[in-house]
Amino acid sequence: MESKLFTPGKIGPIEIKNRIIRASAFEAMCPGHKPSQQLKDYHTAVAKGGVGMTSVAYAAVCQSGLSFESQLIMDPSNIPGFKDLTDSIHRYDTKACIQLGHCGNMSHKRVCGCLPVGASTGFNLYSPTFVHGLTESEMIQIAKKHGDAVRIAIEGGFDAVEIHAGHGYLISQFLSPYTNHRRDQYGGSFSNRMKFMDMCMNEVMEAASDKIAVMVKTNTSDGFKGGLGVSECIEVAKRLEYLGAHCLVLSGGFVSRAPMYVMKGAMPISTLTDYMPWKSLWWLKIGVNLFGKMMIKNEPFKEAFFLEDALRFREELKMPLALVGGLHSRESLEKAINSGFEFTEMARPLVHDPDFVNKLREGKVERSGCQHANYCVARIWNKDMQCHENCTLSARMEKEIRKNIKYASLSNK
Ligand SMILES: Cc1cc2nc3c(=O)[nH]c(=O)nc-3n(C[C@H](O)[C@H](O)[C@H](O)COP(=O)(O)O)c2cc1C
Repeated sequence: MESKLFTPGKIGPIEIKNRIIRASAFEAMCPGHKPSQQLKDYHTAVAKGGVGMTSVAYAAVCQSGLSFESQLIMDPSNIPGFKDLTDSIHRYDTKACIQLGHCGNMSHKRVCGCLPVGASTGFNLYSPTFVHGLTESEMIQIAKKHGDAVRIAIEGGFDAVEIHAGHGYLISQFLSPYTNHRRDQYGGSFSNRMKFMDMCMNEVMEAASDKIAVMVKTNTSDGFKGGLGVSECIEVAKRLEYLGAHCLVLSGGFVSRAPMYVMKGAMPISTLTDYMPWKSLWWLKIGVNLFGKMMIKNEPFKEAFFLEDALRFREELKMPLALVGGLHSRESLEKAINSGFEFTEMARPLVHDPDFVNKLREGKVERSGCQHANYCVARIWNKDMQCHENCTLSARMEKEIRKNIKYASLSNK
């Protein structure tokens, strides 16, 4: 009997041919914030490689939401490029999703064109930058931009959108007491901190109508003391169910505070700083080299690393749920599906090999060859997303990656 993994599943108005989705993972392939041939080639290869749906990531809902120069923006001028991309993905009977987000305080004027914005005024050490706390009318504008972005996604031929409400991006910055210090009706109590998410989701659901599936990526936990824990994140998920989202993608972590919690494995400090340009990021290069290991907590890799927490969400919610994080083997994927998650998502296995799903299905492999060195994550700072196995590297970089692989494989024991 064929595994349930390879049977169709429904998300809102759409049906996906199997239960494996390429998770949103920033490709850094869009100079000028426009879809490129390289982005199309990558997602076409992933579609051909057997996933049920592939998620393009991430697209800023407006200029202030951009964190990188080679990131997509949801501008109407990009519709023909989106159409070309989604047509190509659809040729393989694969659905196309686009992650919509706003990075909030994790940007720089050079990229987002203004003083970075966030839930509260202050200083963000991660960028590092001063941050302008959004006024209510600015919040309403950004919420509306979420709706506009959904309409652009529909015109661009996408079957689904994924709203980024986790990982310390803007919605998550409002939710978390670590970044939300407001004294008005959007800060303080937990229900107040959820109001910006409500505003965005109301715009999203109205724009989506029944024309496109709405997924939301949300945290099982922020991953550090002072952020949201599992119980509070379950309340956020229940709210998203009430607001009408069609499927939640359960992840975790907070990029500006607990970045390795998102993906686990080696912390690629030296590869990361190697790729930071001296000219524009000298301060960050020096800072991360000197203090990175002190500031960023080690997070050993293990298979299905959010499963335990996510099971608590499964008990509390009726809606379809997708699990992401360390589903790098057939065993973990099956375990997730058999535990009641309707969908599974993976990022690094498909950076390592876009054909991984076909190989799994045909029984040619049982697990991904990804070694969790996280070179791909370091690289997106100023190059395109690639696995180190597909790159020509300096001897120094090779040595660093070997060290990272050793750490990741030890931490896996
Ligand atoms: C190179 C890279 C870029 C990523 N960019 C994003 C992103 O833009 N949005 C997002 O929600 N998650 C992003 N992630 C996190 C992944 O979607 C996923 O949650 C995480 O890697 C764990 O899944 P995995 O073990 O299958 O890699 C990224 C991961 C990688 C490796």
